[in-house]
Amino acid sequence: MIEDRRINPILLDNFIIKYIDNPKSIFKLVKSNMNVLDHGSGPGNYTLIFSKLAKDGTVYAIDSDPKQVDILNYKIKKYNIKNVKTFVSRDLSVIEDNSIDFLFSKDVLCCTTLHEELVMDIKRVLRPGGIAYVSIKNNFIKNDPRNISYKKLYSLFDNPKHKYNNLIGSWLFYRKPVI
Ligand SMILES: C[S@@+](CC[C@H](N)C(=O)[O-])C[C@H]1O[C@@H](n2cnc3c(N)ncnc32)[C@H](O)[C@@H]1O
Repeated sequence: MIEDRRINPILLDNFIIKYIDNPKSIFKLVKSNMNVLDHGSGPGNYTLIFSKLAKDGTVYAIDSDPKQVDILNYKIKKYNIKNVKTFVSRDLSVIEDNSIDFLFSKDVLCCTTLHEELVMDIKRVLRPGGIAYVSIKNNFIKNDPRNISYKKLYSLFDNPKHKYNNLIGSWLFYRKPVI
């Protein structure tokens, strides 16, 4: 387990989220008893917020980079957080079908070539009626195989509930149909 000694990680996270990302509308969707998946959690900037919002549920944090998961595990231990489970994985196979109430995939599909596979996995793990927030950053590097356009992102989600794009990136909300 590694320690992040440069700056108090919680203060840094709060600064980034409050002043740069400002995702208040997303946080409103998370209720106390929900199971939340932070897909591509990185060092857990959002995971820790979800752990407070879903205090009676479970927050799953998955990242393909073991170093990011180590930093998150350090924070979980330091702040004695009990409702977060972390995994190092490039896919969502550790998560059961139809088990997630809210899925958060922020700027992950633009860091991988596994676009179709991950979107299938996102739809699989959401419970019917569950909601996913998925965003990508615009990639200005030509011929990057990870690059995914906003049109492609939208097309992978049949009938997204809301979709947006601006100069920096694109994002959508997807609600899994209730059959
Ligand atoms: C730009 S960072 C975003 C981190 C976090 N979502 C945030 O907004 O603070 C992208 C993260 O996705 C992770 N990642 C890339 N491909 C992945 C995959 N196939 N499965 C899980 N995580 C992945 C990277 O390791 C990295 O931590």
